[in-house]
Amino acid sequence: MINIHMEYFEELLKRDSLFKDEGKLDINYIPDKLPHREKELSLLSQLFLGLITNPNSISRKILITGKTGIGKTVTVKRFGTLLTNAAIKRNISICYIHVNCRKERTSYKVLIKIIRSIDHSFPKRGYSPQDLLDIIIDLLNSQDVHALIVLDELNYIINNNNDLIYSLTRLNDDSFNIPQRISIIGIVRDISCINNLDNSTLSTLQRNIIKFEKYSQEQIFNILKYRAEIGLKSNVITNSLLKIISDIVSIKGDIRYGLNLIWKAVKIAESKNLKTINRECVRLANSDMVPFSTLDILNNMNTSKLLFLISIVIHLKNSQKNENSLFEILKTYLVVCENTHAEPRSYSQLWNYIQDFKKERLVSVRLQSKDIKGRKAFIEILDISLEKFENIILKILKTKGIKI
Ligand SMILES: Nc1ncnc2c1ncn2[C@@H]1O[C@H](COP(=O)(O)OP(=O)(O)OP(=O)(O)O)[C@@H](O)[C@H]1O
Ligand SMILES: [Mg+2]
Repeated sequence: MINIHMEYFEELLKRDSLFKDEGKLDINYIPDKLPHREKELSLLSQLFLGLITNPNSISRKILITGKTGIGKTVTVKRFGTLLTNAAIKRNISICYIHVNCRKERTSYKVLIKIIRSIDHSFPKRGYSPQDLLDIIIDLLNSQDVHALIVLDELNYIINNNNDLIYSLTRLNDDSFNIPQRISIIGIVRDISCINNLDNSTLSTLQRNIIKFEKYSQEQIFNILKYRAEIGLKSNVITNSLLKIISDIVSIKGDIRYGLNLIWKAVKIAESKNLKTINRECVRLANSDMVPFSTLDILNNMNTSKLLFLISIVIHLKNSQKNENSLFEILKTYLVVCENTHAEPRSYSQLWNYIQDFKKERLVSVRLQSKDIKGRKAFIEILDISLEKFENIILKILKTKGIKI
């Protein structure tokens, strides 16, 4: 017995991984390059240049907004490294402190986190928030450092702890000619959440807002390509698969989804002993969850449409190609109709079905020539595993008393 297990392990260990460095596809990894965020990095550098040229004489407060998964956190973290490196070179003490307010939740925890980033041995209990604010300033003064405090996902504490932000933004505002010790970058997805702040804090933060725009489909492609290049061995993923993944990702725009999708697809390819990722790996990776909206559409679809749709799925599955011509698919459709004793629909009726499927995002259609209606149309199933898709439709057909 033991022997068998050992061999099994040896087998697994012998297998070549398709990853060059798995960690580089991790969503928390901070890559050296941030394609399509260079402008934002340069803007941040301009805004905070004073921290280097005139140490401790200015305090910057800015707010960053933008949708989920579009590089707000990673860009600010990268900027933190650039800033501290530039400071170190010039013997200036700047302490970059990144606080995730979703994790810390209360102003007390946020303040403790800030203090412990400066003084690692600081005790976790026994102080009031006001004490902690004073301690922060004392610490920064005694160590002669400027803190750049990033309050990431700031909305999580705005609702219950407005005082904290007020105090932090005001910490050394009322006294002139004393060293400015704190700068703040707030990050929120939705700008409207800061409306709950008091007017003075609001006006402080609103002076500098940087809005991160969503990435375009092409930008998503470039970013994922870069992450795949540093994370995977060469030739593991093709450009056309990356393009398909970027199309899927661009619906929501969250790069995390793309990174996870690539990672999962590689794992699936490895489990199948493949040397490269193929379309089905991506489909399987993406199909762990069939969106509720898709199930809803299928459950409400009439039988003749379902029969045509399952013909597309079966045909694609058997052909193992990414896309098939409608002409080819029709052959499978006729077989399906025969098996289920259904009357085949007319060509133009089927063409209308395809237009519906397209609208419902079940398939995508590529036209090779526009003149002959449908003959040169290539059909592709977008982002559901064919196996899973087939099973779902089979189950629905079964409830209607139809077996294929
Ligand atoms: N330009 C880019 N180049 C390389 N990787 C990127 C880029 N933009 C985003 N990413 C990656 O995408 C993921 C999401 O980015 P990030 O965590 O910064 O999103 P966010 O805007 O802070 O989202 P949220 O509002 O949900 O916190 C991260 O893993 C990040 O490394
Ligand atoms: Mg973030």
